[in-house]
Amino acid sequence: MSKIVILTGAGISAESGIETFRAETGLWAQHRVEDVATPEGFARDPALVVEFYNMRRQLAAEALPNAAHKALARLEEEHNGDVLVVTQNVDDLHERGGSKNLIHMHGALNSALCAVCQHRWDAPVTMQVGAACPSCGAQAARPDIVWFGEMPYQMDRIFDAISRADIFVAIGTSGNVYPAAGFVAEAARAGAQTLEINLERSAVGAQFDEAQLGPATQTVPAWVDSILRRD
Ligand code: OAD
Repeated sequence: MSKIVILTGAGISAESGIETFRAETGLWAQHRVEDVATPEGFARDPALVVEFYNMRRQLAAEALPNAAHKALARLEEEHNGDVLVVTQNVDDLHERGGSKNLIHMHGALNSALCAVCQHRWDAPVTMQVGAACPSCGAQAARPDIVWFGEMPYQMDRIFDAISRADIFVAIGTSGNVYPAAGFVAEAARAGAQTLEINLERSAVGAQFDEAQLGPATQTVPAWVDSILRRD
């Protein structure tokens, strides 16, 4: 009955056609983080920020879950034990791939958040700047995305799961953004086996017990098969 916690990042959605952040031509080469992914950037130019997430929401809606997303859903369905996927991704490819026990620690493109009363609702594909909150009426709708300087969601639940994990796996993440990049250290401290699945070693790669390198659509299904064979 092993407990598995899986952290995913942009690399798992890359083969679905969604750009990663830190590739040479990735999102952060095209946009300044401080303009589009901070509360200060939103206060300065809400239209630019809303447009950035409208563009990403549209692209995510056109993308399809790939073999890696589907393999994690199969693991959750068939593994003799608990499987929790914690994703830094704001696309919905894990849920469309079939994952159910899933935490979006950096928020979700398909959700809108009221900056005044914290009410959440389904975001339209094209969000309008200053749209009214359906609960309190304030013209304070924002993308439900965790920006730099804000606290990621559900950290208590995540750390609790990591502290009880037998296996911790990070997939398609460069290990540059905390607290997610610190999960491997927490998992190792708690006694979990740790595995990195990525195209290349990440910034925290040396902290993992093991690495499997290659494109996620090949490495993730192969790893899932190996776990299910052992069950
Ligand atoms: P990055 O763009 O930093 O890293 C993506 C990782 O995926 C890199 O290590 C790539 O080598 C790897 N990769 C690329 N293609 C792959 C493939 N086909 N198969 C397997 N691995 C592949 O993205 P994240 O680590 O997810 O936060 O970035 C973390 C956070 O930084 C994001 O959630 C976002 C960003 O700023 C916020 O916006 C708050």
